[in-house]
Formats: sequence, C-alpha cells, structure tokens
Amino acid sequence: MLLLLAVSACALRAPPRHAISMSAGTPIRRRQLGTSDLVVSDVCLGTMTWGKQNTLEEGVQQLDCAFDEYGLNFLDTAEMYPVPTEAETQGKTDETIGAWLKKRGRRDDVVLASKICGASERITWVRGDGRGTRVTEADIVEGVEGSLRRLGTDYIDLLQIHWPDRYVPLFGSGTYDASQEREAVPFVEQLQALKKLVDQGKVRHIGVSNETPYGVCRFIQEHERDASLPRICSIQNSYSLLVRSDFESGLTETCAQTDVGLLAYSPLAGGILSGKYSGSKAPAGARLNLFPGFMDRYSQSLAKEAVVEYERVAAAYDVTPAQLALKWCYSRPHVASTIIGATSMDQLRENIDAFFLDDLPEGCLDAVADVYSRYRDPSKTS
Ligand SMILES: NC(=O)c1ccc[n+]([C@@H]2O[C@H](COP(=O)([O-])OP(=O)(O)OC[C@H]3O[C@@H](n4cnc5c(N)ncnc54)[C@H](OP(=O)(O)O)[C@@H]3O)[C@@H](O)[C@H]2O)c1
Repeated sequence: MLLLLAVSACALRAPPRHAISMSAGTPIRRRQLGTSDLVVSDVCLGTMTWGKQNTLEEGVQQLDCAFDEYGLNFLDTAEMYPVPTEAETQGKTDETIGAWLKKRGRRDDVVLASKICGASERITWVRGDGRGTRVTEADIVEGVEGSLRRLGTDYIDLLQIHWPDRYVPLFGSGTYDASQEREAVPFVEQLQALKKLVDQGKVRHIGVSNETPYGVCRFIQEHERDASLPRICSIQNSYSLLVRSDFESGLTETCAQTDVGLLAYSPLAGGILSGKYSGSKAPAGARLNLFPGFMDRYSQSLAKEAVVEYERVAAAYDVTPAQLALKWCYSRPHVASTIIGATSMDQLRENIDAFFLDDLPEGCLDAVADVYSRYRDPSKTS
C-alpha cells in the first residue's frame, strides 16, 4: 500500500509528456528576404567557429551537410570571423567558405551573407594600416575587397553593417546612455558608399546588424529621400528565448512596417539554451568555458535559472532543450531566417532536425510564455 502511494505521488509530480513528432520529407521552407529578390531558407548556417573551434575541413563538412543533405541555401560570415576575433585567425572563416565554394561550384544557388565591421578602436588588425574600423567609404571598400578575395567570389549577396558606426548599447548592455554619443559617419554617406559597390555588382543587397528601431528607420528614410540609394532588406540581431524584449519591444513593429526581415542570431544564446551548462555539468570544450568573458552575459545566474525552467518545458514535450529553443525561433512569424551555429555534426543535425518538428502545441507555447513572464531579460548586464 505504501509503495502504491509512493508511486502515485511520483506520477503526480512528473510533468505531463506530450511528444512532438517530426514531419520527415518536407523541404526546408524558403522565403523572400524583405524587399530584396533574395529567397532564403528559414535556417541559415552560421560560420563563426570555423578557423578557431573548427578546422577548415569541419566547416566544409558542415556546409556539405547543410546545403546538399538538408537543402539550406543561406550562410552568414563576417570579415572579422572567427570569434573571439583576433589578428592570428581573422579571415579563416571566409577561407573555409572559399574552399567549399571552389570545390562545390554552383555559386548561384548559394545566398552568401557577410558583414563589415562597425566602429571599433580595439579591432586594429582588419584594416591594412592598423587604424581600427569604421563605416566610412574607405572602410567599406577595403572590407568588401578583402572579403571577396578570401571567399574567392566576385559578389556578396547580402552585405551587412555588423554593428553601427554610431554609439548604441551593444551585446547585452541594455540602457541607452546619451553621454556616450560620439561623432559618426552619417547614414546617407554609408548608403552612398554601399551604392558604389552595388553599382559595381560586388554587393547585391544590404542589411544592418545589432541595430535599433531608430537606425532602421533612418536608413529607410535616406532611401526614401533618394531612391537611387540601396534599401536595407534585413536586420541581423540577437534573438532567442533568453533575448527577446530588445526585438519584441520596438523592432517587431519597425521591421513589419518597413519590410525588413529579421535574421535571428545566437538562437541558443551561445549554447546555454542546450542545457549543457546547467547543474554541475560544465563542458570544458564548449564556448562559454573555452573563452572566459566571451558572451559571459549568458552565464549569469538569472539566465541560468531561466534555462533550467525551459529545460523543464522541453522535457514535458519530449524534445531536447536545444530543439525547443530552435523550434520556437524558427516558428516566430517575424523571423525571416534563424542563424544557427554548431561545432560538431551531431549538434548541426540536432539543430536542423528541430525545423522538422511539428508545430509547438498551444500548451507548450503557454509554458514558454509562463517562463518568459518570470524571466524577461535574464541576460541583460545593465
Ligand atoms: N551579428 C552579430 O553580431 C552576430 C553575433 C553572434 C552570432 N552571429 C551569427 O549567428 C551565428 C550563430 O550564432 P551562435 O553561434 O552564437 O548561435 P547559438 O545557437 O546561440 O550557439 C551556437 C553554439 O552553441 C553550441 N551548440 C550548438 N548546438 C548545440 C546543441 N545542439 N547542443 C549543445 N550545444 C550546442 C555550440 O558551441 P559549443 O560546442 O562551443 O558549446 C555552437 O557553436 C554565428 O555563426 C554568426 O553567423 C552574429
């Protein structure tokens, strides 16, 4: 009798289990990116570990699998990659992609996105004369020429400004502080410089990254004043179960009204949403432990608490925590494409497979909403 009571008490405490099945055989969806003529897969392959955590051969293997097995057509790089950015490795990510493009051919069915650095006094090794980076015409031209050379191609489909030239709160710092305003390259001059590369056929479309509603509106406004200037079609910002409010509070409306597509980066918040840093588990070879200080906003206690809550939701629906986080991102209506990252083939498959899970049921979305109501900005540093 006692045993029976103990068993039924356990059953009561266990979360309900509702397995979410997987639709095999459906292709990865593709959609038009903003007002451009780029048609991109809902899953975009991020590359920033290639040349640091991953070898060239591993990067090529990821590309083969993602493009030729799963049907992705979209990848994202940057002139400063791999990360953490440093002089010794800069450019190796592009070289990996260049090696793959050369081996595979068929350049036309790849949508290649890259990014030129925003303003940084610290990054002195990307420009030839060690001057640091800005978004002046000289920087944009030098940056794009270098990228094209390393990539072994003569055009970039989507060139993004990696972060703004002007002061904005960046990478987890949440509060705008007017006293930090500084002189910046005017929006119109950035567009005039980008126009030259578009006119030369070296860049097909342009986008922004780590931008704010103000920045998106100003770039669109300059295009509306002078339609010969290129129009931004995308914004690449951090977006995940742990980083939602920055986008959802102002950019969702801004981007819907201006038809600018969100490319959501760090959908696993650097890997922490996979649950592998929870409890006593501390994988030595994983990003947040390998590179102390890099993305450490995600290791803060509140973010970790939120992750444990999302792990419970995932367990209740019989999916992995990574798949819950990714499926949630893949299915947000304002996300044009989710930029995933992986350091192993197992991670890559788990992450792309999440796309094929059936829609998250209402109960699951309610459970996610409940966690979010208690952990709104768990990774904010200020
Ligand atoms: N515009 C920007 O400022 C910006 C910033 C960041 C990223 N991005 C872009 O977005 C891409 C993706 O960003 P991200 O790498 O930060 O994405 P993420 O999905 O948040 O983190 C990916 C990392 O998490 C770990 N991981 C991935 N799948 C996993 C799984 N199934 N189980 C356990 N661990 C897993 C891997 O690192 P470990 O194996 O080391 O744990 C992987 O490198 C980048 O490659 C880049 O193209 C852009």
